[in-house]
Amino acid sequence: MTNPLNDNRLLLKIAKKYGTPVYVYSEAVINRQIQKLQKDFKDLPFDIHYAMKANENPEILKIMLKNGLGVDAVSVNEIKRALSLGFEKEKIIYTPSCPSVNDLKFAFDHKIHTHIGATEYFDFILKNYPATSIGLRINPGNQIGGNQKIATGHNDSKFGIPINQLDVIKRYIRKGLKVDSLHLHTGSDVGTWQDLARSVDVIFDFAKYFEGLKYIDLGSGFKVKYHPEDKTIDLKAYAFYIKKKIDALPYPVRIKFEPGKFLVSDAGVLLVKVNVVKQGFDKKFVGVNSGFHHLIRPMYYDAYHEIVNLSNTGSATEKYDVVGVLCEEDTFAHNRLLPTVTKDDILMIKNAGAYGFSMSSVYNLQDKPKEILISGGIITDISHP
Ligand SMILES: Cc1ncc(COP(=O)(O)O)c(C=O)c1O
Repeated sequence: MTNPLNDNRLLLKIAKKYGTPVYVYSEAVINRQIQKLQKDFKDLPFDIHYAMKANENPEILKIMLKNGLGVDAVSVNEIKRALSLGFEKEKIIYTPSCPSVNDLKFAFDHKIHTHIGATEYFDFILKNYPATSIGLRINPGNQIGGNQKIATGHNDSKFGIPINQLDVIKRYIRKGLKVDSLHLHTGSDVGTWQDLARSVDVIFDFAKYFEGLKYIDLGSGFKVKYHPEDKTIDLKAYAFYIKKKIDALPYPVRIKFEPGKFLVSDAGVLLVKVNVVKQGFDKKFVGVNSGFHHLIRPMYYDAYHEIVNLSNTGSATEKYDVVGVLCEEDTFAHNRLLPTVTKDDILMIKNAGAYGFSMSSVYNLQDKPKEILISGGIITDISHP
């Protein structure tokens, strides 16, 4: 596969034609990632539901649809978008966090399978939707390494039903609550499959109390390579571990995964233009026409994103802080060594396809970036409101 996002001249052409800031995505890279997952998980009975929160652009969702994937939605508007694009109801799962009862009503009325993350909703469900089977999002109480802002399966996390509420669940099942699936999501960008496997242990133990579950949803967390020295998760070893768990369960079960960034992160870059190169007391600042209103990961998660100066790939380098236009602290990179930067250079911020545009805002009344898709040599403006 040739990766168009490695083609500097093409990216510079796109920046010139469509202006900056601009997100550029590659369909080929998304397809490559889907195929990798399908290959590594081939010995499992599994379904993939793309976590559409990572990038909910309709054209990106259509690529998932073309590949036969389902989606994991976390809001009513995400469900509506998936339905409007032609995803079948059975291919949509809904994993909301602290939803309103009106949100739940929408999902139940539209027959969207829902993962409930709090026992406090059970009375409402039993009273209003007694015939509806639900999934339970459990919190395995698994403290993992990495960034705590994206760790979602530990004791202090708001997500999921703590496993120590098993007795409450059992009591409601005796009252008639119908549970047909279990779900967990340990966190995002999890560094090792062993961290994920500890949650797998917990959910498969839990599953023993629920005879005949249709599926166990193991969420995602598959780390991607943000930093050149980052290690990615060994998904084959993870699949092997899960397979052993399935074989040991007294009933057959399917597995669902909900990858977001694994499918789209490396498939997108953000191109920005240098407004000014400015000398501080000691530091040199590269001020670009973007900020956390376009890509918040470096500021919110202290995430590392590789930056490439597309306009100058020479060998003479300098150290810069790459900052944005907001009246806020909006630093993309601290003390980053880059080939000498000058005004109007185009910089590429890599690995920006996931949680980039989807977390963007119009803070400071700044415009949002455009979005461009490259597929099979065709370049299309896929910007949407
Ligand atoms: C419930 C759920 N599933 C799936 C995902 C996707 O995770 P990732 O983007 O790490 O693959 C998330 C991300 O936060 C999530 O909250």
